[in-house]
Amino acid sequence: MRILVTGAAGFVGSRLSKVLLERGDQVLGLDNLNDYYDLSLKERHLADLRPHPGFSFTKTDLCDAPAVAKQIASFAPQAIAHLAAMAAVRYSVQHPLIYGHVNVQGTMNLLDAARPLCDSLGSPPRCVIASTGSVYGSSTPVPFKEDAPADRPLAPYPASKRAMELMAHSYHHLWHFPTTILRFFNVYGPHGRPDMMPWQWSAQILKDQELTLYDGGKLKRDWTYVDDIVAGFVSALDKPLDFEIINLGCGRPVDNLQIISILESLWGKKARRKDIPAPPSEPKITYADVTKARKLLGYDPKTPVEQGLKHFVTWLQAEHLLP
Ligand SMILES: NC(=O)c1ccc[n+]([C@@H]2O[C@H](COP(=O)([O-])OP(=O)(O)OC[C@H]3O[C@@H](n4cnc5c(N)ncnc54)[C@H](O)[C@@H]3O)[C@@H](O)[C@H]2O)c1
Repeated sequence: MRILVTGAAGFVGSRLSKVLLERGDQVLGLDNLNDYYDLSLKERHLADLRPHPGFSFTKTDLCDAPAVAKQIASFAPQAIAHLAAMAAVRYSVQHPLIYGHVNVQGTMNLLDAARPLCDSLGSPPRCVIASTGSVYGSSTPVPFKEDAPADRPLAPYPASKRAMELMAHSYHHLWHFPTTILRFFNVYGPHGRPDMMPWQWSAQILKDQELTLYDGGKLKRDWTYVDDIVAGFVSALDKPLDFEIINLGCGRPVDNLQIISILESLWGKKARRKDIPAPPSEPKITYADVTKARKLLGYDPKTPVEQGLKHFVTWLQAEHLLP
């Protein structure tokens, strides 16, 4: 299949691209290579993909609508895997405007650029779009089910993702793109983002720095290993659905104290902790009900967090990414 992967230089987009290339798909990676985190990490991801004959890459900003349209017209993707975004809840509290710009308008630019393909390909490309479990906020009963309203987001990041979901529905409704929206829950693993907790806390443990813990470490997160997420994403690409929103989580929330204790034993070093109250952008728990993903996609998250964090730490060590 000819697949446009947006965010291909990022954490999940690069892992997805690799799996698609290895099974013989043709991938055009699109990414603006922004410096939200160390750009050398994104360059490493691309270096991993470039040897594949089926891979090509364009440095394009989703916010540049004509440039996006040009790429889509010349590649004519049969499927669009949309992962490019400004991610991260906390950064969105400090920089709200960019989240509307990239996650809402940028997604519209992408979908709008794909509209002419409905005529030229004879059928619209299938779209699989990465959203987030943080759209459920703090008032949704656990485990989170896809039919919950998700209309009380706690920060600009989940609000922008929910707006993106709604906009994608309107494009599906009017122009008939088969659309699957995947709500990821706390993805981690090798090639992970340096702003996320497993990486931050590993760095702080190793440097003997105090790590900041919200609400005494009682917050629970449904950590989901990257290979499980990628397997779910590939199934969604292979099985176009009319319009569905589907959780991709692990379904086993773990509190932050436990994550720290696993990291302490993996690094062989104790953490120094500073407890502070959780900010209003942080829900007490994220917890995916993955029944729908199992049923519609054959999704089967296999990796317990102890094992996934072990793979992550082994990778950080092998790549010499921490002192
Ligand atoms: N990692 C998680 O825990 C998690 C959880 C829920 C949802 N998600 C979603 O999954 C997707 C991938 O997340 P990730 O963790 O790989 O993040 P990432 O930051 O590593 O990847 C996103 C990529 O998008 C690119 N990008 C950002 N703005 C762009 C723009 N204007 N034009 C083109 N490219 C742009 C970035 O350069 C980056 O390479 C995102 O949509 C994110 O919201 C991730």
